[in-house]
Amino acid sequence: MKEIPNHIAIIMDGNGRWAKQRKKMRTTGHRQGVEALRAVLTKADELGINHLTVYAFSTENWARPKAEIKALMLLLLEYIKNESKALHKKNVRITTIGDLGSFDEKIQLEIAKAKELTKDNTGLNFNIALNYGGRDEIRRAVEKIVEQERKGNREGISVTEEEIERYLDTRDMPDPDLLIRTSGEMRLSNYLLWQMAYTELVFTETLWPDFTGEDLEKAIETYQNRDRRFGKI
Ligand code: IPE
Ligand code: IPE
Ligand code: MG
Repeated sequence: MKEIPNHIAIIMDGNGRWAKQRKKMRTTGHRQGVEALRAVLTKADELGINHLTVYAFSTENWARPKAEIKALMLLLLEYIKNESKALHKKNVRITTIGDLGSFDEKIQLEIAKAKELTKDNTGLNFNIALNYGGRDEIRRAVEKIVEQERKGNREGISVTEEEIERYLDTRDMPDPDLLIRTSGEMRLSNYLLWQMAYTELVFTETLWPDFTGEDLEKAIETYQNRDRRFGKI
């Protein structure tokens, strides 16, 4: 049997189109998306995946209509509040990537609580990308390195890849082995740009609210049939 991926990253896309097909509000699609996430988390946990990183809100998503952003924020707050205890019971460790500073204090507080509650858990690492953009993450890392230099904590212009990685939001995580994007779009949309240098990409037409645990298993199977060369022969 081939190895299961250690780290799976997902771009949960297509909630709006799922709702449109049913003549429902986009928010209804986002709600159904949360249900899909629940099932996928359960399956990932069962399969013994170590890290699952999901794209929940990008730095570009602020350009959406105010009402949709508000609905997404409410949903996020509700999700963190309702779900963290159950996830804690499952030994899941909740982490986030992205700049949380732009969110309401209430949301920041709930996220901090969920992280604190689950920080010593040894099961699945459930990592949520919130106000995340790959470029912004790299920009923030560079800023921190410059700051260290200014404070006199480092010297010289030479920067290694390892040093950059120490300042990325994913500093304690391995790179993703597998990326899954739903809804038929074949682009990265500013997701984990540094970390996905050698990630296997799997795209599916399925809209995120329709994505199931079985679809996750199928994507893993596709991954297992790939030949990862990392530049070698
Ligand atoms: C993904 O679904 C969820 C978020 C980006 C928050 P979309 O809302 O992008 O759904 P589509 O792409 O418009 O169908
Ligand atoms: C990517 O989806 C972001 C999330 C899933 C949170 P988008 O729907 O925002 O991406 P684009 O705009 O189609 O590239
Ligand atoms: Mg989309």
